[in-house]
Amino acid sequence: MKTCIITGANSGIGKSAAEQIAAKGYRVILACRNIVSGEKACQQIKTMTGNMHVCVMKVDLSLMSETRAFADECISNFKELDVLIHNAADFDLSRKSANITVEGNESQFATNVLAPFLLTNKLLGLLKDSRDARVIHVSTKGLMLYPNLKLDFDNLQGQKTYHPAATYYRNKLALLMNSLTLKEKLANTNVSVCAVRVTNVKIDMSRYQNISAILKYMYKIKSRFAISPDEMAKVYTLLATERKLDGFLYDEKMREVKANRFVYKKEPRKQLWEICEHLTL
Ligand SMILES: NC(=O)c1ccc[n+]([C@@H]2O[C@H](COP(=O)([O-])OP(=O)(O)OC[C@H]3O[C@@H](n4cnc5c(N)ncnc54)[C@H](OP(=O)(O)O)[C@@H]3O)[C@@H](O)[C@H]2O)c1
Repeated sequence: MKTCIITGANSGIGKSAAEQIAAKGYRVILACRNIVSGEKACQQIKTMTGNMHVCVMKVDLSLMSETRAFADECISNFKELDVLIHNAADFDLSRKSANITVEGNESQFATNVLAPFLLTNKLLGLLKDSRDARVIHVSTKGLMLYPNLKLDFDNLQGQKTYHPAATYYRNKLALLMNSLTLKEKLANTNVSVCAVRVTNVKIDMSRYQNISAILKYMYKIKSRFAISPDEMAKVYTLLATERKLDGFLYDEKMREVKANRFVYKKEPRKQLWEICEHLTL
């Protein structure tokens, strides 16, 4: 039985993907911060698919200590890992100022960039023990609105200025940069790496009650043009379970697409990788 870990699988696209991958007979681990909604999602997936090899494991990805402990638990529980999907993301737009965790990291950067970096690195041994492993990073089509976006290495953790939306987009840029570096590092191994460019997907607004009335209104308008989480999750599922593809970034129609220019620049990617190593390993 193949094994797949999906972060943030208690809701939205991650939950849909977990169900689709479980329906294909994989053992699926829902890596969730919220254990209550994780358990609920797990029960629903078991009922819908008849696959009993679905379980929840708790991890708050904003904390490297929890991410490390989660990885260690996986290493002691599983012989190999076939699919790792970095789906969870912090896009809480109600935040007014940078939230610094007890470990000293800005929590969005920690969740969206550092945790995927640490988790993949910790689980690399398990991934290498699979015959055909895949690591999938989840990015956003919203980055297309900012074709010239760059990272400001002096403000990676909101040291100078902070806005949750700007931080989110820069985090997704950084995630793609690390994804490409990892892909290059693991070329010619059994572990393939790719990314998904998620389009406008319906969000469960009951999860985002703290945001302002204007943002709620904007989300409402946006949701009229959104596709369903199930539809978007099909791309995760294809990349996770079907014939291995060589491309880097795929859109909601499984077309290979280009990332922002900055993602392909070697020097900033090297710098980012070294910063992530310093902050996590
Ligand atoms: N929906 C869209 O239009 C859209 C567009 C572009 C990209 N995306 C990307 O698609 C992915 C899935 O988003 P979605 O639309 O399915 O939204 P969602 O339902 O809000 O899912 C986000 C998931 O991330 C989890 N998460 C957040 N912070 C976490 C932490 N510190 N530790 C562990 N888990 C954490 C959430 O868990 P909790 O339940 O504990 O909060 C939730 O399960 C994200 O990477 C997002 O950036 C979505």
